[in-house]
Parts: sequence; C-alpha cells; structure tokens
Amino acid sequence: MADNIIAMLGSSRLNLSSLPTVFLVSGPAWSTQALVSLLFALMPAVAVAQAPTPAAQYQNRRLIMVEDQIKARGVKNPDVLAVMRNVPRECFVPESVRPQAYDDHPLPIGFGQTISQPFIVALMTEALGPKKNDRVLEIGTGSGYQAAILSRLAGELYSIEIVPELARSAAETLRSLGFRNVTVREGDGYRGWPDKAPFDRIILTAAPPEIPQVLLDELRPGGRLVAPVGVGVQKIVVVQKSADGKTTSRSLLPVRFVPMKKETE
Ligand SMILES: C[S@@+](CC[C@H](N)C(=O)[O-])C[C@H]1O[C@@H](n2cnc3c(N)ncnc32)[C@H](O)[C@@H]1O
Repeated sequence: MADNIIAMLGSSRLNLSSLPTVFLVSGPAWSTQALVSLLFALMPAVAVAQAPTPAAQYQNRRLIMVEDQIKARGVKNPDVLAVMRNVPRECFVPESVRPQAYDDHPLPIGFGQTISQPFIVALMTEALGPKKNDRVLEIGTGSGYQAAILSRLAGELYSIEIVPELARSAAETLRSLGFRNVTVREGDGYRGWPDKAPFDRIILTAAPPEIPQVLLDELRPGGRLVAPVGVGVQKIVVVQKSADGKTTSRSLLPVRFVPMKKETE
C-alpha cells in the first residue's frame, strides 16, 4: 500500500496549488492548526491512493502466486523466486485471458499454444540453474515469458520459436519491456542454433519424443539441459554433461506440454 501512495502522490492527482498557503511558506515550526489544515488538504489524495492501480493489483497477485503456488510446492532458489516476483506475467498473455495471468494453470496464447503454469516455469528454471554469465538456449519461445525469466538470471538468452507470429509478438513484448539480452529467432528447434553454440544451459518448453542429439551436441561440457520428454504424459528430464562430455539424466515429475513439432508438420 505504501508504494501505491507514493506513486499517487508523485502523480498529477496531488495539486500543490490547492494546498493551504502555509504548506508553501518556509519558516518557523508549523502551528497545530496549519498541520491540521494540511492533513485535511491531503485526505482526498490519500483516499484516491488507497484504490490500487491495475499494475499494483497484478503485483500483489504476483507476490501471492510466488508464496502459494511456487514456494509452497518446494521451489527454494531465492534468485528464481525474486525474478518470478518481478516479471509482469500479465504482459505476456493475450488481453482476453489477462485477468487469469496469475492463475495456477497454463493459458492459451493463440495458434494452439500455451504459456506454461507459473509453478512449472519456476521449477524448470530452478532445475536449469542458469548463472550470471551463462549463454542459454530456449526451444519454444511461445509468449516470451520463460525467456524473460531466464534472461534476468543469465548473461545471454537465445530463443527459437516455430510459429512465426508468436516469434514476432514475443520479440516485440520482450523489446518493449526492456529485456535487452534476449534474441528470438523464428525456426525449428530440432536444428539447434549452430552459430551461437555451445550453450551453458538449454531448456525445451515443447516436448520431443526424445531429446534431439543436435541439442545435446550444442551443450557445453559441464552444461545442463532441461526438457519435458515423451509422448502423451511426459516427464521433465534434467541432463547433466560432464567435463569429458558424458551425459547423465534424472527425471523430475510427470507433466503435459505441447509436443515439439517438426517444420514439416
Ligand atoms: C508451452 S509453449 C512455450 C511456452 C513459452 N516458453 C512461454 O513462456 O510462453 C511451447 C512452444 O514451443 C513451440 N514449438 C513447438 N515445436 C517447436 C520447434 N520444433 N521449434 C521451436 N519451437 C517449437 C510452440 O509453437 C510453442 O510456442
């Protein structure tokens, strides 16, 4: 609430010329009467400030989302929780579903695609564990939300989206919100991004039947890949590549993602 009040006082709703003259005059200590007059003059502005703006309402819902959907289910990384509290998810969803932006499920973003459930975004981000200077590849830009979250934790984020309209709108959303370290490309993730490889981290947000070899090859030794894998009900798999290039993997939990399509499909 304090933030709201500061925001409103900083806006044109507080008209200084309407305040009592004593407010504008410097001098000795104010009389009680002058202070009372000032208080009354400020009351309408404070009353207006108490009605939260849509941005403040979304911010409150974001904080609740992190507590109830993400922390409560065991995501602990403080950096991940901090970005989830800061990135405005409502800006990444179509206007028609904006009121549901912080609900505990995926939402449609057009073209038969979805933005993932907030908990799954946080869980996969924590499992990926990007570091400040990492180069990260994402397959499946979709709305651009996961890219935005990752870009705040990594050095550079490259993202490939197969639906041209989604690639364009995600790039525009990210640009307009000031995410400068993200590059979005329209294309087929099965081909990887050879010009920018190797990557420290790779994340897939569409599910292939098995992890494409080209992506494993583009993973730097010591790197990590996180992906939903399988047909129908998939599981989230975390692949770790050791310094000598060997890979080991473990499964996290069952999920249901959209399938990773081939360009010809
Ligand atoms: C669950 S959505 C992605 C959610 C997204 N990360 C977000 O934050 O909104 C999966 C996306 O993967 C894209 N996709 C599917 N197959 C692909 C492929 N072969 N290459 C690149 N993108 C693909 C879909 O078009 C869809 O936008």
